[in-house]
Amino acid sequence: MTELTRFYQLFQPTHYNIYLDIQRATKKISGETTITGIAKQTAIAIHQKGLAITTVQIAGQDVAFTVDDAAEAVRIDLAQAGEVTLKISYTAALTDSMMGIYPSYYEVAGVKKQIIGTQFETTAARQAFPCVDEPEAKATFDLAIKFDEHAGETIISNMPEVRTEKGVHYFDTTVRMSTYLIAFAFGELQRKLTTTKSGVQVGVFATKAHQTNELDFALDIAKRAIEFYEDFYQTPYPLPHSWQLALPDFSAGAMENWGLVTYREAYLVLDPDNTALEMKQRVATVIAHELAHQWFGDLVTMKWWDDLWLNESFANMMEYVAVDALEPEWHIWETFQTSEAAAALQRDATDGVQSVHVQVENPAEIDALFDSAIVYAKGARMLVMVRAMLGDDALRAGLKAYFAAHQYGNATGADLWQALGTASAIDVGVIMNSWLEQPGYPVVAVAVVDGQLTLRQQQFFIGAGHEVDRQWQIPLHSNYATVPAILARTSLTLGDYAELRQANGQPFRLNVGNNSHFIVKYDHTLLQDILANITSLSAIDQLQILQDLRLLAEGHQIAYAEIVPLLARFATSHSTVVNAALYQVAGNLKKFVTPHSPAEQNLQTLFDQLSRAQVARLGWTAVPNESNDDQLTRPYVLSAALYAKNAQAVAAAHDLFTANKTKLAALPADVRVFVLRNEVKHFGSTTLFERLLAAYRQSADASYKADLCAALTSTPDPALIKLLLAKFADADTIKPQDLRAWYRGVLANDAGQQAAWDWLRNDWQWLEDTVGGDMEFSTYITVTAGIFHTPTRLAEFKTFFEPKLATPGLTREITMDIKIITSRVALIAAEQEAVNAAVAAVIA
Ligand code: BES
Ligand code: ZN
Repeated sequence: MTELTRFYQLFQPTHYNIYLDIQRATKKISGETTITGIAKQTAIAIHQKGLAITTVQIAGQDVAFTVDDAAEAVRIDLAQAGEVTLKISYTAALTDSMMGIYPSYYEVAGVKKQIIGTQFETTAARQAFPCVDEPEAKATFDLAIKFDEHAGETIISNMPEVRTEKGVHYFDTTVRMSTYLIAFAFGELQRKLTTTKSGVQVGVFATKAHQTNELDFALDIAKRAIEFYEDFYQTPYPLPHSWQLALPDFSAGAMENWGLVTYREAYLVLDPDNTALEMKQRVATVIAHELAHQWFGDLVTMKWWDDLWLNESFANMMEYVAVDALEPEWHIWETFQTSEAAAALQRDATDGVQSVHVQVENPAEIDALFDSAIVYAKGARMLVMVRAMLGDDALRAGLKAYFAAHQYGNATGADLWQALGTASAIDVGVIMNSWLEQPGYPVVAVAVVDGQLTLRQQQFFIGAGHEVDRQWQIPLHSNYATVPAILARTSLTLGDYAELRQANGQPFRLNVGNNSHFIVKYDHTLLQDILANITSLSAIDQLQILQDLRLLAEGHQIAYAEIVPLLARFATSHSTVVNAALYQVAGNLKKFVTPHSPAEQNLQTLFDQLSRAQVARLGWTAVPNESNDDQLTRPYVLSAALYAKNAQAVAAAHDLFTANKTKLAALPADVRVFVLRNEVKHFGSTTLFERLLAAYRQSADASYKADLCAALTSTPDPALIKLLLAKFADADTIKPQDLRAWYRGVLANDAGQQAAWDWLRNDWQWLEDTVGGDMEFSTYITVTAGIFHTPTRLAEFKTFFEPKLATPGLTREITMDIKIITSRVALIAAEQEAVNAAVAAVIA
């Protein structure tokens, strides 16, 4: 089975000549692809999807071919094996699915426009030209494109254009590369260019709907990121240019096409004068991610999709390594903790989750691989463990060897471990395989038993779990020097606790820095010891204590009510990560209270008490030269104060709104969402609502649009919710790529949940047709499961999704999501009363 589905074993292309004639007016493509390669046998197959093949020729002679749509292939029988050149002529259509060759729609000053772009990962190159569409089938490419061109249009691709002849644009021959990394785009583009120290041309391209200064931030980060990677990897960037292009319609977040990286507009262009620091950091990490791939992914590519983690986990770690080097004062590893670590620990605790390394064969399986909390976040955490074990010098030396051995070729996980092994005495492969091949992660219980300090590892589950006796090789990172580096057994006794405590002079801790993928359950004595000294811990270590406690509570290993009285200890911290963790725990208490009940009022009082002093300290507007921590903490505390319905906060937000009534986009970006949401919730009118909706439709500022979406979906007015849902299918207002945020917003709104849920169920088929061709689709299920917490919704969820369990690509998601809601419902039933009592006691 496996053998048969890999076309590369039958035919190994070495060079492609691709000619495309693209007519936007008719949405028709006519193409001619000439492939030279080595046939390993006479019966060969080449990928194609949706191509109407007219002729296949060898040496000017037509040859017979069969189209096998089920296999997304065209099959050809050759007279003999060996080198052969095939010329395939075909026609195809421009799609509206954001896959293959597709138009992006936008408006400039009310005039509708489009640019054509491409998205080929994972298996859509075959929709543009016939090819052996497998990562291992690397070849060189000559691309020539003609289109219904108007004056003032630009066309770009992986390589520079070498000439234009009779309206045909010819691009330079590429280096040896995989098909999924080919890209081109054309239309009315503006651009900004610069050059790296080593002479690589760097450019940022976007539509003319943007102000030119919106390209500046990305250009600076891209240039410096390439310079950083050339140094870190000790391997030059091998192409003449590195273009970054923002596409108005884009299904993923960004895509690392070699030399022509494509992005959602939200992740590339930004208003340098009014964008929240958090968003700037996000844009920087996205750019750093895609540019990390130019080496790790593009120069050396995973041999097959089962090792996708090699690409994505690595790029996910490097985002932070690079941005930390470019902007050290951002302390971006703190963001790694609140985003990647938190997501990985949450997702990886549900039974049935995938492992980082997964066997896959067909396109549906390959797409279902992209569970970002696992392949990205957990995988990145694994590599952070490797980095912590090896240190940067050995890591860099190992990477240099890896690139030298595999450049312009492919590699497996084993190849990476092998290369890193040459640079270090530690056999990381053995340790990492326990993390790579097994789903889940351990909780290490630390207890004093008969005076002895003991450790025991066991898989951690939120909800029901199969006990299969998994074990991990756990880098322990204790603050007690005598503790071994790795726990490779089920349990371990460390010695007399009183003596160890005395000798070390500080509370016993594991996973200092929170870089290993496990959580710690301290017994009562040990935890109290840590809590008594909590402010002497680093911000990340404080976050870790809170995060682990919350996970333990979600997993029924400790009582939620025990955490409630601890929260106030963290509320005075000026650290963003501590506040992030604090409000994440506090936010998790919301599920225990019924809307508009006395218990909810108590919880609001708790939020008020936690946030009051910080709201007073930080206020609503940033002061000049404010610290990054203060800028990033403000949103957490303001959001808490508004949830608490703190009268002063509500009034302050309203005043800010009134003062900026005529220029809402100019509201300070870091508080804008709260001001708008507050207004819609408490002072909303149909007029305001329509004004915000019109602003959403007209604005090209992705941050502002996200704020408007959050505000509009929070309306308490059922009539307005109806109006919103009617817009869901109107792509001129809400682009399909942004619809999930709208759905999530309405679903999270008590007044809108029923309507949103009804919409999902009624329009499921439409949704599949609209966003089904990519990894977006299943995330609508994930989002729903993230919100539901009542027995009624659980039953409805099962009724609707259980019959869909057999749908390729949805099986795992539905199974896990049923477990997730089930465990949440059970947790609420078991602990609601105690939690509410604990909140009442704390606020009294
Ligand atoms: N290679 C991916 C994009 C991708 C994913 C294409 C799945 C096709 C299928 C790209 O490098 C990526 O990881 N993009 C992320 C954003 C990133 C900064 C975390 C994405 O799209 O979510
Ligand atoms: Zn990636």
